[in-house]
Amino acid sequence: MTKRKILVTSALPYANGSIHLGHLFEHIQTDIWARFQRSMGHECYSVCADDAHGTPIMLKAQELGITPEEMVAKTAKEHLEDFVDFGVEYDHYHSTHSEENREFSSLIYNRLNDAGHIKKRTISQLYDPEKCMFLPDRFIKGTCPKCKAEDQNGDSCDVCSATYATTEVINPRSVVSGATPVLKDSEHFFFDLPAFEDMLKAYLRSGSVQTEVANKLEEWFESGLKQWDISRDAPYFGFEIPNQPGKFFYVWLDAPIGYMASFKFMCEEKGVDFNEFWKADSSAELYHNIGKDITYFHCLFWPAMLEGAGFRKPTNVFVHGFVTVNGAKMSKSKGTFIKARTYLDHLNPEYLRYYYAAKLNNTVVDVDLNFEDFTSRVNSDLVGKVVNIASRCASFITKKFDGKLSTNVTNQALADEFMAAAPSIAECYENREFSRAVRQIMALADKANVYIDAEAPWVTIKDADKQVSTHETCSLGINLFRILMVYLQPILPVMAKGAEEFLNDTFNWQSAQTLLTDHKVNKFKALMRRVEPAKIEQVVEASKENLKVVEEVKADEQSELEKEPLAPEISFDDFAKIDLRVVRIAKAEHVDGAKKLLRLELDLGGEQRQVFAGIKSAYNPEDLEGKMTVMVANLAPRKMKFGMSEGMVLAAGPGGKDIFVLTPGEGAVPGMRVM
Ligand code: MSP
Ligand code: ZN
Repeated sequence: MTKRKILVTSALPYANGSIHLGHLFEHIQTDIWARFQRSMGHECYSVCADDAHGTPIMLKAQELGITPEEMVAKTAKEHLEDFVDFGVEYDHYHSTHSEENREFSSLIYNRLNDAGHIKKRTISQLYDPEKCMFLPDRFIKGTCPKCKAEDQNGDSCDVCSATYATTEVINPRSVVSGATPVLKDSEHFFFDLPAFEDMLKAYLRSGSVQTEVANKLEEWFESGLKQWDISRDAPYFGFEIPNQPGKFFYVWLDAPIGYMASFKFMCEEKGVDFNEFWKADSSAELYHNIGKDITYFHCLFWPAMLEGAGFRKPTNVFVHGFVTVNGAKMSKSKGTFIKARTYLDHLNPEYLRYYYAAKLNNTVVDVDLNFEDFTSRVNSDLVGKVVNIASRCASFITKKFDGKLSTNVTNQALADEFMAAAPSIAECYENREFSRAVRQIMALADKANVYIDAEAPWVTIKDADKQVSTHETCSLGINLFRILMVYLQPILPVMAKGAEEFLNDTFNWQSAQTLLTDHKVNKFKALMRRVEPAKIEQVVEASKENLKVVEEVKADEQSELEKEPLAPEISFDDFAKIDLRVVRIAKAEHVDGAKKLLRLELDLGGEQRQVFAGIKSAYNPEDLEGKMTVMVANLAPRKMKFGMSEGMVLAAGPGGKDIFVLTPGEGAVPGMRVM
């Protein structure tokens, strides 16, 4: 086997918030993969860092009355403790606010600049005259230029979904000071991304990026690459651009360079050759684990920056989906926005490592953390299957056979089957199909349990004639357990450590190809306890934020899909009472003071109806006018705060921007009955 040189990273968490279970999905994934590679004997390093720069961090520190340096130092300490306690072991965890990062950022910028890839031009931006700072889009609020909804974001409208330039916002105000921003000119520096289009296309075709990612990239190429604004004016918490006083690197310029900086620091510490991994023609492998929201930065800007500055590009960017909890976006009001520390206060971190592994594949789809499923998976797989094998055999070995495993292997065929699974399980780990690895390991655990059930050592132990065979059965049981723990070690390092102590052994991937015979073991201690559902409730309770926050969050979460039990069954006759009709939306408009509702005038074919529909978050009224849809036409009129509602239109979707009114097929005319 050739020894591979591998560097793997997780995206750098922002230094102004706590690590939560969503982040951990990524870090646990990186950790499992890196541990697997190391157990295979490869030279694999994993690094990460805090992403320390940018306006939000600067403002948060101001709010707390401390310097940004103090804030990022405090956060970094917390982040690192969270990771360590989840068994996520980085070879180094750095900060983007570090000397190494300053040096690499300057170096890369200078090389890009020398090669003519940095362009300068003056742009006009909204400026807070009280705070004396330019305002990023998210720090501006105002009236939507399209639909005139008030209190909308600086770059997009939650009501009509329009996106626009901050300069188009009507009555803009600064979120920082409340002042009315003014337009101010400033020279900005741009990275000439379009110059790299051909290179990027070839790179992404040659690489093995996931299909979904390739498709997304295709869209971006089609809409045309744009020059990227990489400078920000003072005051800004970041690095000053070389020889450009008052101009700073935009946080996303130095963030990915943080991967290099962290690795550089590690290299100095461990005596590893940095250039081996980063030179343009490096044969080492480089992988970034990231969430789908930051694909653009990692698949376009980052490879282009590296290429332009004469460094190697990533071997692959592994993009994952988002974690939802109990079927919905993590929510503060429901107590499902769970911080790493809150979880750790109540539950064993290896439960989560196992559960994520059991759900992980190499696609970009979102993954649901369902607490019922979590409990039953951990309890039935790890406690009920794996630990059970050892606990049913170990006490006999200790009590009756002097703590020693037998010399003879009683069922070599079964042992061989367990050993032979190694390449296929390894392939699953390598390809980041951890859920498949887990399925194969649990299928073996089932076999071990069937074997022990059939041999029933707790019965044969009482028979003086069967002492040898009982010893051999229990010894094989322990050996099978050992092989399973070798396979599970990347996922469950702490439990594997316990197994090593019990077995007087240390594991690497090759350990699965041997059996322990005539070997002394120690007293067996339970390696994992069952998940107690009450503990999960405590986590959820502790994650619920105070009532005021609950109310606010509820307002923007009204759209979330709630799991509702089915209503009692109805007869066909009951159903037939509902008169569904095709209607034309003759008019649609906003309702003063209504947060969710639009007022619709529906043409039922000769008859007009007024209906208030809760679809404001999803539709721009103008876009609805003239559309055909379906309504419940014989619903008793209801008096609502804003007027009479004379029926209902049918719509479905997860909520927010994604609610869709039902559209009848072609040829439908107003008044037609739908059945
Ligand atoms: N600081 C940037 C990354 C810079 S990398 C050079 C950032 N930070 S973040 O804290 O917002 O996110 C860090 C990572 O966590 C991202 O990969 C993001 O996709 C991931 N996740 C954040 N919430 C998540 C879930 N709910 N589920 C899965 N991953 C999530 O972006
Ligand atoms: Zn709008």
